[in-house]
Amino acid sequence: MDDHQFKQLLAYFNLSGKGYRKVRKGVKKRIARHMQSLSCRQIERYLQRLAADETIKNQCAALMTVSISRFYRDRRVWSVLEKELLPDLVAGRTAPVRIWSAGCGRGEEVYSFRIAWKDLRLQRNGRPRLEIVATDVNSDYLAQAQKGVYNRGSVRELTAEQLGRYFESRPGGSRYCIRPELKTNIAWSCQDLVSGQNPPGLFDIIFLRNNLLTYYRDPQKGAAFERVTATLQHNGTLIIGAHERLPDTAGRFVPVSGTNLIFQYR
Ligand SMILES: C[S@@+](CC[C@H](N)C(=O)[O-])C[C@H]1O[C@@H](n2cnc3c(N)ncnc32)[C@H](O)[C@@H]1O
Repeated sequence: MDDHQFKQLLAYFNLSGKGYRKVRKGVKKRIARHMQSLSCRQIERYLQRLAADETIKNQCAALMTVSISRFYRDRRVWSVLEKELLPDLVAGRTAPVRIWSAGCGRGEEVYSFRIAWKDLRLQRNGRPRLEIVATDVNSDYLAQAQKGVYNRGSVRELTAEQLGRYFESRPGGSRYCIRPELKTNIAWSCQDLVSGQNPPGLFDIIFLRNNLLTYYRDPQKGAAFERVTATLQHNGTLIIGAHERLPDTAGRFVPVSGTNLIFQYR
């Protein structure tokens, strides 16, 4: 598959090429294999098959997703969360704290949050309860997230103490398995941020990092952003990726602690 054909595919799904700069080669290989399995030699024929068959289209859409992540990605975010946002959020609180990891990939962001929450010892007698909703369009990534097994590269930002406390390592030491107690109170579900429905209820914090704002184009991107962020509580927090920015149309978001990654919804 050449770059021109890849661009045709991006246009078909209304995806932006921005997110694919470093991973394009691998994604193109996956798509070429899919085309081959369907005996499609020409991109035009492949696009016709996608248009005619929802299952094939979904398979291709899943192959276009990129799951690169790691624990404690973007240190600044976690530092502001740990030092400022979470202590303020739980002070005097009895209602559950609700978090949505939207486009959670293989779960690194979700378990990072669980680790930060545990490390801070924020609960008193189990209060406030923590409820995490973790969604992704790719069901394979979700299945892997629920298993919670990672390689050394994914956990490289964690301290030795965190690795010892929150992971069991497999014989040989190259795989790190999240301990079962960190897997509780997480509702995993398959959801498309662009065309799906929001999970029910309002959230205190939404992680919307390295997916919608990177890979999609307007008008879908702007519309989905509006819908997703409508689930934020008043004064709720939105966290985006290091190379992302809010859509120009996004009003009522105030940057927190001088970062351009964390915003409060007013
Ligand atoms: C690069 S990972 C980001 C994971 C994590 N949020 C982070 O920042 O480390 C992008 C994830 O977004 C998911 N994704 C892409 N498009 C999506 C969509 N339309 N709806 C839901 N998830 C989507 C992908 O399947 C992938 O798991």
